[in-house]
Order: sequence, then C-alpha cells, then structure tokens
Amino acid sequence: MKSAKAKVLKTRRAPRIETELTVPGDKSISHRAVILSAISNGTCTITNFLEGEDCRSTARALRQLGVAIETPKPGTVVVEGNHGIFCAPGGDIDCGNSGTTMRLMAGLLAPQKFACRMTGDPSLSKRPMRRVIEPLQEMGARVWAEGANECPPLCVEGHPLNGVTYRLPVASAQVKSAILLAGLFAGGGTTVIESARSRDHTERMLAYYLVRLRHEEIWEGHSLGARRLKEVRISLAGGQIPESRDFHVPGDISSAAFWLVAAAAQPGSRLLVKNVGLNPTRTGIIDVLVRMGARVREIVENSDHGEPSGTIDIKGGHLHATEVRGAEIPNVIDEIPVIAVAAALAEGTTVIRDAKELRVKETDRIAAVAANLRAMGVGVEEFSDGMAITGGSPLKGARLPSFGDHRIAMAFAVAGLFASGETVIEDIACIATSYPTFFDTLKKIQKGTGIGRYTPVFSSLLSKSRTSKSP
Ligand code: S3P
Repeated sequence: MKSAKAKVLKTRRAPRIETELTVPGDKSISHRAVILSAISNGTCTITNFLEGEDCRSTARALRQLGVAIETPKPGTVVVEGNHGIFCAPGGDIDCGNSGTTMRLMAGLLAPQKFACRMTGDPSLSKRPMRRVIEPLQEMGARVWAEGANECPPLCVEGHPLNGVTYRLPVASAQVKSAILLAGLFAGGGTTVIESARSRDHTERMLAYYLVRLRHEEIWEGHSLGARRLKEVRISLAGGQIPESRDFHVPGDISSAAFWLVAAAAQPGSRLLVKNVGLNPTRTGIIDVLVRMGARVREIVENSDHGEPSGTIDIKGGHLHATEVRGAEIPNVIDEIPVIAVAAALAEGTTVIRDAKELRVKETDRIAAVAANLRAMGVGVEEFSDGMAITGGSPLKGARLPSFGDHRIAMAFAVAGLFASGETVIEDIACIATSYPTFFDTLKKIQKGTGIGRYTPVFSSLLSKSRTSKSP
C-alpha cells in the first residue's frame, strides 16, 4: 500500500469485511454548495465539504471571480455570497480535471458583464462542451469552445440572457444545472425537461436555499397498471437570489460504492456505511447489488438540508449476473466501473447497455474497464453503449493503467482485493479528484483490522430493506 503521492497502488486478496466506515463529502453536492453559497445574499458555512481536487477547482474558480472563501478548518468552508455579481477573473480559469466545474460555471458566467476563458487538463480538454453551449446560446449567451469538436477551452462573453424551455438530449445533471443557474439570472422563466431522471441535487439545493422552483413529473400508462415516467420538468423564474444558509454535505455514495461492492461480493461480509447520501437519484448502486444477491438495508436518518442521508447496511453473498440499462443508467453512471468489477465476480453474464455517456467521461470508461478486466482474465464483449461481462472465474492479479481516471483506479483496486497474486494500479494521483482518503480506508480493509466496531442498527420506521427486483 502506498500513499496518495506514490505513483502506483498495490492490492492483494483481502479478508472478509466486517466493519463500519464513513466516506468523505459528496462531490456533486460540494460543488453545488459552494456555488449556491457564492451567489447567495450573505455568509454561508459549509461543513463536510469534499476537499478533493475537483471541488477545489470550483472553489478556486469562484475565488478568482472575487468570491471570499475561507477554510477555517479542514472540511469547513465559509463563503461570502455576492448576489451573483462576479468580478472579471484577470486570466484563464483553470478547471483542472473537473467537467462539473466547467459546465456549471458556464451557466454562471454567461450572464455576467465580462469575458473569460475556462481551460482544463488534458482529459477535460477532450470532453464535449456542445451540450452546454447549445442551450446557453438559445438563452442568448455568447459562448463557444476553442478546441476541436467543441472541446475546451470554453470561452464566455457575458451578455444578458432570456429564459428558455429546453429538452435535454442526453440525461446530464451538469447540463441541467448549467441551464438552471443561468436561468436564475435570465429574464423570464426557464424550464428544463428531462426524459430520464438525472441526479437532482441542484433542484433540491436551490429549494433549500429558498429559491422557488417547480418540479413536475409526467407519467405514462394507466393509473392502475404499470406506469412509466415520461418526463420531468423543472422550472424557475429569473431574478431570484438564493438565501444564505449553512449546509452540511453528506458522504458520497459514489465513494461508498467501492466498499459496497467489496462487501457485497464476499459471502459472510457485513459493512455499515454511515452518514452517506441516500438521494434516490443516486442509490441505483444499491438496487443493482441487491439484484446481484447482496442483502441491503438503507436507513434514512436525516433530511435536514433537503438531501436524505443515513446508513447503508450491506451483507455479502454469492453474486449473480444482472442487466443494467435504460432509465437506471443516469442513476449509476459513475458507479459503472465498479459495477463491472462486481459483474466479474458474479456468476453469469452481466449486460450493461444505454451507457454511451461512459465514452466521454474522464476517460472512455467502456474501453478502460474492458481492457483492465481482460488483463485480469475476464471475458468482456464491448458494445458502443456498454459491455457484457462474463464473471465467476478467478481473477488474476495484473499491472493495470488507471487511464488517469479516479474511478477506474479505485474500481480496479477493489478488483485486486479478489485476485490471485498482486494487482498494481499505475498513475494513481487521479484518486485525489474525488476521494483523497481512499488509501487509508483501503489499507484498513486490506489489513482486516476494521475501522470501528459495529454499533447495532435497530430497525426503524425509516429503514428500507431492499429485496431483489427488476430494474
Ligand atoms: C455530475 C453529473 C454526472 C456525473 C459527474 C457529476 C454532477 O455527469 O457523471 O461525475 O455533479 O452533476 P453528467 O451530468 O455529464 O452525466
């Protein structure tokens, strides 16, 4: 085991997991907490803010735009809201590896009174920006990309905006959020329509910061029979300033997912993850693991700040294959690399489809997962929008690239816990993007020492046991 500064990470077969743990603050929520605080009408204190590189990029960008942000102690951030009026940045804004920073900031910068340019690292410089350019241009924004195929750098020349009604062509919370943030400063109303539900943190948090917005669900089918969500419409009126409020960030279920899979795939394991976000637009990983044979209780303990959080209590089992596709994909989009590892450990062939978006994440995650699983001896068929993984044979330890992608690095560190011999993950600095303390938890899991002792979790009215069901 090496520290975050080391270039490689080594893992070996781990003992049964029987412990409880917490994970750092949610990445998506931390970005939004600092952004909404920055445009609020006063001082906001954010606790359990994720001090990962991506959220630091957002905080750094906001500071560059004149927002006063203090960090009195680790994980606590105090932000002086500016009512949405920023200062010219005096140079390019470096968004690092963070697509969320660049896309959400595009929405905030479009209605300002100055021009600026956002850049990114080599991975972000290959990510598509057409998806935010198009709706913002429809609102009257002057925004364009300088890179080939409308990739970064992204340039924004501030201009007054009008509200828009925009149907998202791809389920993307980043694009939805960019439009809603721009809509706050636009003349008239803005409506975003999505036909697959993406994570709804922006909507929940806007409501928590006392912005009035309307959420409408349109369902298809007979009220007594099977009903299918046709679309979600989120509308807000321009000219609202978020009310300054303190905010506590729950733990990141996408970080918990690595340990949930590690526990799920080992019969006899039991893991409690505490103080973790349980927003239903993010808990698809639990549904998938339950379908594969894990036993899970989800206990919502708190919703004070509009984001449900609590404990996940998971017991491992002999996993079997499942299908992950359709409307479930946006809910598990960041967990697919580690779901693929669970599939490799499960009996049968797991099929993942409708996940073309994985091709344009921090790396092409379909190609990266397929290459690394094959190197460990797993049969993988690759599709343009997913893969079929035939699991159940022993995994072989291997030397694997991270492709500079934090979730690939961590997913394959988990695979190494089930493999014969040693697994070496190269180029692991990227893990700091979302989970800077991953190494400490991995070390404890590998040693089998436990992170704390069990505290009994009693059934409560809020406890929801998941049982096997189709997606
Ligand atoms: C995020 C949305 C998702 C997700 C990303 C974070 C967000 O991206 O993959 O890690 O915080 O809004 P898309 O909106 O591009 O699907």
